[in-house]
Amino acid sequence: MDPFVPNLLAGKTAFIAGGTSGINLGIAKRLAGLGCKVSVAGRNPEKAEGAAREIGGTDIALGLSCDVRIYQSVEEALKKAADTFGKFDIVVSGAAGNFVAPALGMSANGFRTVVDIDLNGTFNVFRACYEHLNRPGASLIAITAGQAVNASMFQAHVCAAKAGINHLCRVLAMEWGPTGVRVNGISPGPIADTEGMARLAPTPEAEANIKARVPLRRYGTKEEIGDAAVFLSSDAARYITGTILDVDGGSQLGDARSRDGSNGLA
Ligand code: NAP
Ligand code: COA
Repeated sequence: MDPFVPNLLAGKTAFIAGGTSGINLGIAKRLAGLGCKVSVAGRNPEKAEGAAREIGGTDIALGLSCDVRIYQSVEEALKKAADTFGKFDIVVSGAAGNFVAPALGMSANGFRTVVDIDLNGTFNVFRACYEHLNRPGASLIAITAGQAVNASMFQAHVCAAKAGINHLCRVLAMEWGPTGVRVNGISPGPIADTEGMARLAPTPEAEANIKARVPLRRYGTKEEIGDAAVFLSSDAARYITGTILDVDGGSQLGDARSRDGSNGLA
């Protein structure tokens, strides 16, 4: 059964940076399914248009091309979206890049590229969307990751970028709270059928190894991240700002395996 009432988000509008695939597209579908009009933006225009069709077509979705590293490109996409569906009640910043490489196998440009997409991109999206927000009441959500808190081998760029995102959310929550704008993050655990996990766990063995460490012993779903975004954007979360919500099956707690491989359960 759907945990949310039908049309919970009717009359609301959302902009989702990086909403053209994966987890962020899952969020877009979840919001649209509850009556929200959504604009999704990514670098590839065909992919963006395809995502909008998948969400439900021109009445409820708009696909836009935008590179979050370029402030003017973000401004233009936000303006087109606001002109089409009106001011935003929900803005999600989820564009990201990742590859697995040790720091010594990473050029300065490789490090900078990921920080630029994830961290600078989130600043750009949140900074540029402010003038288009329905205030008070708007909900801003950054998509971060466990690497923000737990140092991870071969993820220097992502760890640095996502840690920056978490703290950026806290600062913006303080600065923009007085105008009724809430700023939170969602930190997904390993999510099934995503580009991120294809890169981080490319083999069945690697996937099994990750699942074994998660207290809930499975990958999460895009719908589960979508549900968290709905919660954070709903009235139920009206007093929540500056928080990072872990939606990760308990992954953040640590490696949930005992030394001998048993789990202590009967
Ligand atoms: P994904 O499918 O590759 O999604 C990335 C999105 O960002 C795509 O829509 C991509 O579209 C867009 N994008 C990339 N660079 C961009 C840029 N410079 N400007 C604008 N858009 C850009 O990845 P995903 O695995 O679902 O990850 C989505 C988010 O969840 C990311 O923030 C990631 O860090 C986070 N996360 C994922 C997992 C996981 O299990 N997958 C776990 C924790 C956190 P274009 O390529 O067309 O630009
Ligand atoms: N190992 C080491 N360095 C790598 C690398 C790898 N696997 N992949 C890319 N790089 C380096 C490149 O060599 C380049 O550095 P250089 O100019 O010094 O050679 C730098 O990163 C930028 O690469 P480029 O391909 O020009 O960047 P881009 O802007 O076209 O793409 C990426 C950005 C690299 C993050 C690309 O993987 C991407 O578009 N990712 C989006 C999808 C994604 O990652 N989804 C998962 C989200 S969790």
